[in-house]
Amino acid sequence: MKKVAIVYSFNSTKSAKIALKIADQMASFETVLLNVEVSKANDFLLYDAYILSVPTWFDGELPNYWDELLPALEQLDLRSKKMALFGLGDQKNYPENFCDAVGILADIFAAKGADIVGFTSNIGYSFESSKALRDNVLIGLLLDQENQSKLTDERVQNWTRQLENELG
Ligand SMILES: Cc1cc2nc3c(=O)[nH]c(=O)nc-3n(C[C@H](O)[C@H](O)[C@H](O)COP(=O)(O)O)c2cc1C
Repeated sequence: MKKVAIVYSFNSTKSAKIALKIADQMASFETVLLNVEVSKANDFLLYDAYILSVPTWFDGELPNYWDELLPALEQLDLRSKKMALFGLGDQKNYPENFCDAVGILADIFAAKGADIVGFTSNIGYSFESSKALRDNVLIGLLLDQENQSKLTDERVQNWTRQLENELG
């Protein structure tokens, strides 16, 4: 069975809950759960497919735990890796930076050669700008538990179905 590593903060309760939901639904993969807070650069070389959790903090910034990994990630060659990103954000209180961290981290991994998959539609969201938005396409799955929690289950389900193909 193919393996997919899901990398998230075990201490961020909201993001962790979604990560486990995603793990449950990746039926054709064996899922490996990695705590980003104790991850090392080499953890990104162990598997062929990754799902990365990156909520947006500090008005459009990466959480500390991702920021701290960046110098180590600089050394990696990720050309054979497929990566999909999801991120929690709040489009009502941060409409100019909605889920920016998803776009920031996607660019960092893409620059190391990773093949970013799991793009989604921007329909159904309401925000002014986001670094995760590329020509009307979102570069990962954006979830808003503050304002659109009722849409989360369906969004996660559609995305995991999509990833079963794209990460395979
Ligand atoms: C101080 C602070 C700054 C935030 N900045 C942003 C932001 O710039 N963009 C955004 O979309 N959400 C922002 N958020 C909302 C969080 O991303 C959101 O609450 C998310 O659910 C946090 O997930 P976590 O608890 O798993 O880290 C911010 C939240 C706080 C408390």
